[in-house]
Amino acid sequence: MGRKATAEAPSNLAFVKYWGKRDAGLRLPANNSISVNLSEAKTITSVEFDVGFDQDTLIVETSNIPPGPEFSRRVNQHLDRMRSLAGVDDRALVHTKNSFPAGVGIASSASGFAALTVAGCAALGLDLSVKELSELARLASGSACRSIPGGFSEWIAEDKDNRSYAIQLAPAAHWDIKIVTIVVSSQTKKVTSTEGHDLAQASPFFKTRLEGISKRLDSVRSAILDKDFQTFGRESEMEAISFHAIAMTSPIRLDKGWSSGAYYWLPESLELILAVQDWRRNGLEVYFTLDAGPTVHILCLKDDLNRLLSAVHEIEENRPGRNWEILVNAPVDGAHVINDIRI
Ligand code: PMV
Repeated sequence: MGRKATAEAPSNLAFVKYWGKRDAGLRLPANNSISVNLSEAKTITSVEFDVGFDQDTLIVETSNIPPGPEFSRRVNQHLDRMRSLAGVDDRALVHTKNSFPAGVGIASSASGFAALTVAGCAALGLDLSVKELSELARLASGSACRSIPGGFSEWIAEDKDNRSYAIQLAPAAHWDIKIVTIVVSSQTKKVTSTEGHDLAQASPFFKTRLEGISKRLDSVRSAILDKDFQTFGRESEMEAISFHAIAMTSPIRLDKGWSSGAYYWLPESLELILAVQDWRRNGLEVYFTLDAGPTVHILCLKDDLNRLLSAVHEIEENRPGRNWEILVNAPVDGAHVINDIRI
């Protein structure tokens, strides 16, 4: 009988983004980032180690694209990290399932590698602290380190001992904001976030972004702690644009030819961005943010949720043929072991 454990981990949404690394191999970020765990975007992963397995096997259940060889390579590499910590050599069977589409601007590598870390360590009997689990998850996927603590987190780029991990800023119950995530397309992005991080420094605006990031981190952190929705929303929205400005001005060479930058938005993303500005002018206090993909995340207070959803549905209904997947997220706890075998 092998050693098996199952874990559930949320994806997370950054209000101050991680974009650009100071060490690509160790996934050390150029700046701190702040995020919240998303209740409706999660991964459940079971990991079983058995002396009888002759190789690592990965089963992925996904609603859009099957993962490519690069994903399997990263999973194997992460299993090796955990095996080496536990001093074992057993191969593993990994079974993983996402509740949302991958590669569209909801960080599936964050929930995926956080769940793999927690399930793998539990299966191997490794008793790590939240900080250690977060550091370990970071090595597999940067943003995964923020899915380990619960609620609102800050990823510390480098502490005084040169370590890098996420800490909890506030628990999920601290602030009942809603994040309405609108998946406008399940087509996957053409430039992965790993490629985007590597290209970021080529943008002429990258240094300027970093110069202002401490002030932005202070504003977003205090706004979360003080529940100051207006400051929180404004700073998050400006930050999203700052990140996309970097992506759009970092020249890339794709297989298909040269490109002046990565445009993660689709026409529908821009339509929603403009709609958010209109809704706000008409008294509905909502703000947008987007990660590396066309999905638009709209932030609102709980009391405004129904008005926001009606406004979104109105746009959707007026455009025949549209079929948006809409997730109504709230802050949620971090990655944890689950007992029931749902996978
Ligand atoms: O962890 P990665 O390599 O998937 O990078 C995440 C990048 C963004 O989602 C765009 C920003 C962030 O901080 O999550």
